[in-house]
Amino acid sequence: MTADPTTSPPSGVDPNTPSIARVYDYYLGGKDNFAADRELAEQVLLVAPNARATARANRNFLVRATEAVAMAGIRQFVDLGTGIPTSPNVHEVAQQIKPCAHVAYIDNDPIVLCHARALLAGTRPGVIAMEGDVRAPEQVLDHPRLRAHIDFAQPVAIFLVAMLHLLTDEDRPEQLVKTISERMAPGSYLVLSHLWDDPDGVGRAGADAYARRKASSPVVPRTTEQIQRFFDGFELVEPGLVFLDQWRPIEDMINAGADDRLCLCAVGRKP
Ligand SMILES: C[S@@+](CC[C@H](N)C(=O)[O-])C[C@H]1O[C@@H](n2cnc3c(N)ncnc32)[C@H](O)[C@@H]1O
Repeated sequence: MTADPTTSPPSGVDPNTPSIARVYDYYLGGKDNFAADRELAEQVLLVAPNARATARANRNFLVRATEAVAMAGIRQFVDLGTGIPTSPNVHEVAQQIKPCAHVAYIDNDPIVLCHARALLAGTRPGVIAMEGDVRAPEQVLDHPRLRAHIDFAQPVAIFLVAMLHLLTDEDRPEQLVKTISERMAPGSYLVLSHLWDDPDGVGRAGADAYARRKASSPVVPRTTEQIQRFFDGFELVEPGLVFLDQWRPIEDMINAGADDRLCLCAVGRKP
């Protein structure tokens, strides 16, 4: 928050440790960040000047992908690593196309949960927000609250958008995606974006800034091949694994020459 110094942060929130969710909020022009978050973001912007544009391109990808899977008939959405609520969010886009859509927002940052609950509390039919750590996928996906909301016997869209690059190789992200995909019924979709390990080393330089400032989680860019492997067992829908702005761009983006190259993204369908 361009935080009010007269109020203390919500319980469990450490304003001195840069939080991935709050740094991302800063890139997106939000107000839910502290000085430590802004300082880290500014360090990243020195080595990756496009970070703000990438954050916006990532949100826009998430919106276009939500529209695409809702149009393809999906009525259940599980957004893992959801971030501080930003409009339009998954439920706004999905429920415009499928008013009966059920959406579950899951994140492990207390500030995300605090905002999500305040925003959604009892007012949004079909939407829940829960605490959960993607590194314990069974615990998250088998949680009774999620199970009461999402029927995994039916197709579901799982979002891991700008999320897996927050897990180290020791967290075994490939295995984790496999565990999640085993819960998904045929006809389900995986929506994913990921920081790219680019040949110029921009992604790595940004990741180093997060490490130096001891952010709430590390940032790990990965190669095209590594990101592609998350989709093992899925059929990529058109246009496949591409840069954020290349995924089904709308006319305005093409006219504006949008061409962000820091993150790769794709949508896969489970056959
Ligand atoms: C960069 S933000 C992306 C938000 C949103 N998915 C988007 O693309 O706009 C990453 C989010 O993942 C959350 N996160 C990081 N590690 C997590 C974990 N192990 N389990 C659940 N959420 C996590 C962070 O708190 C943050 O809100």
